Amino acid sequence: MANKIIFPKDFLWGAATASYQIEGAWNKHGKGESVWDRFTHTPGKIRNNDTGDVANDHYRLWKKDIGLMKKLGLQAYRFSISWPRILPMGRGKINQKGIDFYSKLVDGLLAANITPFVTLFHWDTPQALEDEGGWPARSTAEAFVEYTDVITRALGDRVKNWITHNESSVVAWLGYGTGVHAPGLTDFKLSVRAAHHLLLSHGWAIPVIRRNSPNAEAGITLNIGWKVPASNSPADLNLARKDDGMWFRWFADPVYGRGYPADVVEDFEKVNALPNGLDFVREGDMKAIAVPTDFIGLNYYSRNISRADEKDNDPQIFFPQPQTPDYWTEMPWENYPDGLTGVLGRVYFNYTPLKLYITENGASYSTPPDEKGNVPDIHRTNYLRTHFVAMHRAIQMGVPLAGYFVWSLMDNFEWSFGYSQRFGIIWVDYETQKRTLKDSAKWYKNVIRKNGF
Ligand code: FCB
Repeated sequence: MANKIIFPKDFLWGAATASYQIEGAWNKHGKGESVWDRFTHTPGKIRNNDTGDVANDHYRLWKKDIGLMKKLGLQAYRFSISWPRILPMGRGKINQKGIDFYSKLVDGLLAANITPFVTLFHWDTPQALEDEGGWPARSTAEAFVEYTDVITRALGDRVKNWITHNESSVVAWLGYGTGVHAPGLTDFKLSVRAAHHLLLSHGWAIPVIRRNSPNAEAGITLNIGWKVPASNSPADLNLARKDDGMWFRWFADPVYGRGYPADVVEDFEKVNALPNGLDFVREGDMKAIAVPTDFIGLNYYSRNISRADEKDNDPQIFFPQPQTPDYWTEMPWENYPDGLTGVLGRVYFNYTPLKLYITENGASYSTPPDEKGNVPDIHRTNYLRTHFVAMHRAIQMGVPLAGYFVWSLMDNFEWSFGYSQRFGIIWVDYETQKRTLKDSAKWYKNVIRKNGF
């Protein structure tokens, strides 16, 4: 490629992980049970019955992992805090050992010149709170504020970038609706209530972060796909509207002060998900959710094409047929870089956040180490390169994109897929816990060094 792609001077290059997916030590040093511990310990829920009991053993190996980040020249690291490691019962008694773990991790990162981006909630709700109703209950949002207070008091002097929630739509729709994620419930009425309390807890947490972590920046991370109808037929158009409505606008609109989108309220009424209307929304809630933030984090992976079925009454989300591996990742999600330019433009020009981060983007390819011990994951490098070009185009459009976090720093526990999907730029041998930089990591290292390619 002849043309050089150079990013703005202060552009931040990072990598992301999440507590349950890498830490292991699920019951060590006073940690309480999370819904993901309970869910993975229930046979039949996860492919191959894999669990995060050990995962990448990052709870023990964190120093080594910071060493790898240093080797890559990472400028920022996004990780999440395990709530039940801090408050084993979700509220009340504090587990000092849990706080110490993250405190040392933060110090280690700062010593390595890596900026920590801390996600407060990446899905591992304390089981004790789930037993009292979980996110469909308002009390869980109240407990989240207490947890936020405890952890931001402990780390707020050193952590200057906070993300309240990761992909609330996934927790609400998959955790309480389809049941493929913890806690595995299948009642759409609960999903809608869960979504509200997740959003409400975001709104309530922001002022707490501001109080305990002076001069910090705070925001929320939403997942967004590039949603398109398969054709211009009314049924396809309507399905694409619905898909975008429930997965993105239901969350972004209230965060930016627009309230819940009326068309989606109607969609939910039609499937009887709102038997008593929005009775769970109390006076002041929408104002709290619309609290000003400093940035929005977006997780972008792929395009979603909506095609209604022949009868137009049982619509499905449809993907193009698998093509070459460069086109088709193993999830299987389509490699669609144009969508990244698209979502960045859409979110910036529609909602005008002060700045944006891509807090996750990456690809699942299982390319193993070869005889020489290299991992020639050319498809992942291709995915990253094309998405970087797409990001660069968005910046040229005027989008204030401030940084990028590849998902993921290393292969890890991929939720219902267990260890069968590998998103890392670092290979993990789960038998020995040996880590190997993949070729994509070496390529990424050069991108970071040159601030482009
Ligand atoms: C996102 C999750 C992240 C990871 C990637 C592949 O939805 O936030 O934890 O599983 O997908």
